[in-house]
Formats: sequence, structure tokens, C-alpha cells
Amino acid sequence: MIELQDALRKKEIWAIGGGKGGIGKSLITGNIGITLARLKKKVLLVDADLGGANLHTTLGIGVPEMTLSDFLNRRVENINDVIIKTSIPNLNLISGAQDFLDAANPNFAQKTRLLRHLETLDADYILLDLGAGTSFNILDFFLFSDHGILVVLPEPTAIENAYRFIKSAFYRRFKKVVANQNIKDLIDAAMDQKNTMGIRTPFDLIERVKSMEREVGEILELEVLKFRPKLVVNQVRTKNDVQIGFSMKSACQKYFGINLEYLGYVEYDDCVWQSIRSKRPLVIEYPYSRPARCIERIVHNLLRKEQMTLSMLY
Ligand SMILES: Nc1ncnc2c1ncn2[C@@H]1O[C@H](COP(=O)(O)OP(=O)(O)OP(=O)(O)O)[C@@H](O)[C@H]1O
Ligand SMILES: [Mg+2]
Repeated sequence: MIELQDALRKKEIWAIGGGKGGIGKSLITGNIGITLARLKKKVLLVDADLGGANLHTTLGIGVPEMTLSDFLNRRVENINDVIIKTSIPNLNLISGAQDFLDAANPNFAQKTRLLRHLETLDADYILLDLGAGTSFNILDFFLFSDHGILVVLPEPTAIENAYRFIKSAFYRRFKKVVANQNIKDLIDAAMDQKNTMGIRTPFDLIERVKSMEREVGEILELEVLKFRPKLVVNQVRTKNDVQIGFSMKSACQKYFGINLEYLGYVEYDDCVWQSIRSKRPLVIEYPYSRPARCIERIVHNLLRKEQMTLSMLY
């Protein structure tokens, strides 16, 4: 039974993605989770990377008996049955690990059931560790969350993937608010950067939509303002690497009209892979290391932003 007070608890859902594989999404999700738990917040980590789940390893946990795929495939009905307590107070986990890839691509009904159940859970923060890529499922988890956090490396390939992720998420969000099939088709066509209609940026797309249906174009303009993904630059080695976050922020503003929030960076350090190899979470094994300090700063930035949003509401 879901207690009423659990359901009423004000919780935040944060999704951590980035388009590219192996860039530190799980590492950052796990360690943000531990940092929040140590601040006495009730945290649930969800490994939503169903094709390559390994968040449990980042936390130093073996393959759990019950996983998200048991819930998705209705081997268990209650989501609480797949929640695992970790050794860290206030920190629970839903692992995505599985033997078969049958649930790697949950269908619409499975996804909706999962999100509905997550909303009823007793937690202050639910963190979704997303898989690599820009599949609809990954984008939908990102768009469903209260905060979508993108991880990027200071490398052209990762930056390219991050822009592709932002654009795909953005256009998917557009499609969700539009009912007119002709406009949906136009959005699909605009996804192709080399489309023959000359639509190169969201601005071009909105202008075209306005010429078809002014009101719908205005709704899309509002969506642009509401879409505020956040950015973390991981594996930073130089001052120039730190600056990449600011450059991406300006590029997103200029070409997409999107206000990307630069949350901060995580320095590159050998202690990161050492902690993974020893199966001990970074912020626990090396709490005074530079990457652990960077993660702490990111958490404080996130909490501060949340405080500001709350104070604007009340
Ligand atoms: N700041 C860092 N300093 C040094 N090494 C790092 C850092 N961040 C990540 N790594 C290395 O990158 C590896 C991949 O990290 P992680 O598994 O978190 O990436 P991921 O984006 O979740 O990958 P996947 O797409 O496969 O899920 C880590 O095992 C670690 O060795
Ligand atoms: Mg991962």
C-alpha cells in the first residue's frame, strides 16, 4: 500500500544522460546520489540503462537478485519489491541489471507504468541513470524528469553527441505538445539537418509552424523557454576544458534558443578508475579528491537552484 504521506512528499526526479557511451553518466549519478544521501536526503537511484546496466558496480554492489526488468515484465507488481537497500544510509537502488535483454526497450505501457510508480515512491530525490544514445525511451525519461542533466567530455565526438541529444530531446518535446499531424511530420523532417525545406534551427522551425498555425508556433516558443537542460563537463584536464561548458551554453542559446545551465565540471583523476576497480564509490573512497569535491559542488549548485525555484513559488 502506498502511504498518502509518501505520495505527497515533494520529490524531484533528475535524469542523467548525454548521448555518448562511457562518459561518466553512471559514475556521476551514483556519486551525486551518495552525496545527497549524506546530506540526509532520501535518495533512490534507478538504473534506467536497461541495455548495459552497471550502476550497481559504481556503488560496489554485486548483481542484485531483483531488478527493474522484474517489474517491467510484471514478475513483481509492486515497485517496492525491486528496491534494494544499499549500505549507505538514505540510499536505495533499483538496478537495471538483467540476464536477458528482453526489457532493454520497454514499450509505452511499461514506461508509463514505471514512471507512474516512481512518482508514488517515498524519496526526496529519484535519480535516473540513462543509457547512451538518443532513443525515444532515453529521451522520454530525460523529458519526464524535473531536471535533465547532460554529461559531456571535452572531446569533439562527445560534444557532437550532446548537441544531437539536446536537439532530439527538444524536437521530441515539441512533438508531444502538437496534435496536428502535418506539423508533427514537419518536426520529423526538420530533425534531418540537411532537410530540403531549409529548416536549420528551432527558430526556423517555429517560423515555419507559425506560418501554418500561428497559435501552435507560439506554444512552441513557450516550450523553448521551459526547456532548460543542465550540463556537466566530465574528465576536465585543463582550463580550456572548463571553458567548454560556457561555450556550449552560448552555442545552445545562439543556435537553439535554449538556456543550457552549466552546473559545473568534474576533473579527470586516476582515483576515479581506482575507486571503480576497488568497487568502492569515489566520494567514499576518496572524499577529499578533486573529482569528489567537484561532485559536491555540482550537488550544491543543484540544491541552490532548487531553493531558488522554490522561493520563487512561495
Ligand atoms: N573524472 C574522471 N576521471 C577519470 N576517469 C573517469 C572519470 N569519469 C569517468 N571515468 C572513467 O570512465 C569510465 C566510464 O564511466 P561510466 O561507466 O560512469 O560511464 P557511462 O557514461 O555511464 O558509460 P555507459 O554509457 O557505458 O553507461 C569509468 O569507469 C572511469 O574509468
Ligand atoms: Mg552507465
